[in-house]
Amino acid sequence: MTKQSQNKPHIESQKSHQSESGSLNAPHLEAFKQVIESRRSVRRFTDTPIPDEVLKDCLRMAMLAPNASNLQQWEFYVIDSEEVKKKAVKLCLGQNAAKTSNRLIAVVARTDNWRQHSKQIIKEYPQQPVPAKVKRYYEKLIPLVYTQDPINALAVVKWGFTTVHRKVKGPVVTPYYTQADQVKWALSNTFLAAENLMLALRAYGFDTCPMGGFDEPGMKKLLGLTRHHHIAMMIGAGERSDNGIYNEQFRFDYDQFVKHV
Ligand SMILES: Cc1cc2nc3c(=O)[nH]c(=O)nc-3n(C[C@H](O)[C@H](O)[C@H](O)COP(=O)(O)O)c2cc1C
Repeated sequence: MTKQSQNKPHIESQKSHQSESGSLNAPHLEAFKQVIESRRSVRRFTDTPIPDEVLKDCLRMAMLAPNASNLQQWEFYVIDSEEVKKKAVKLCLGQNAAKTSNRLIAVVARTDNWRQHSKQIIKEYPQQPVPAKVKRYYEKLIPLVYTQDPINALAVVKWGFTTVHRKVKGPVVTPYYTQADQVKWALSNTFLAAENLMLALRAYGFDTCPMGGFDEPGMKKLLGLTRHHHIAMMIGAGERSDNGIYNEQFRFDYDQFVKHV
């Protein structure tokens, strides 16, 4: 039995908690805690492969992450080619987490497909004919919020409109003023998918290391990405090796971060 199969914390252990914690209506709490608390950034992996169907299921779960207006602007580049991987490892500055990974994945945010995805949502919306409200949202409001121009001239117009609206009529959603705001939007949604992916792999008994330490322009070139693609992180994944964890996990005190207002 591989370490991975012995150490599959959690994927099927949900139902048994239903009755134990039924009064709290928290059927998955213990399994969830096990996944969260056993996740570490692992820097060395064994040779045990992550089966294709496991990776596929984890990527499917990654894409269940919440995301603004369900525009699903993420992409996942699974580096299968040995040749590409060798170059990608170098671009990850030779980090062990990349070098020893069984799977190396670029988690990418796109800022250029919101219009196309808006149309796709209308086309694939589970309720057909699409409710007028939904159609209006994707055909009118989304373009208002997301349309950008190369010199950010629209940002001034949007800023003027929202400032006046706020004063005269009250609260208004802050639109994406500049291209930089749009990048932030795409990346923040994509980070949630990245976390889902790492937790899903953990639930299957595998491990990951998120990496921000890589040469982004070089990686984009290697993967054939454009200026509209933004690499949120590289993720090395595989089975945890005995020497895969470099230090004990610790966090600062809870009260340092939580403010009740
Ligand atoms: C955005 C991001 C970038 C990171 N980049 C790297 C990296 O390049 N190399 C690395 O070894 N760890 C990297 N990490 C992992 C962190 O060092 C790690 O999450 C942190 O030390 C806490 O440890 P833990 O994940 O085991 O709880 C990164 C984590 C995040 C979220």
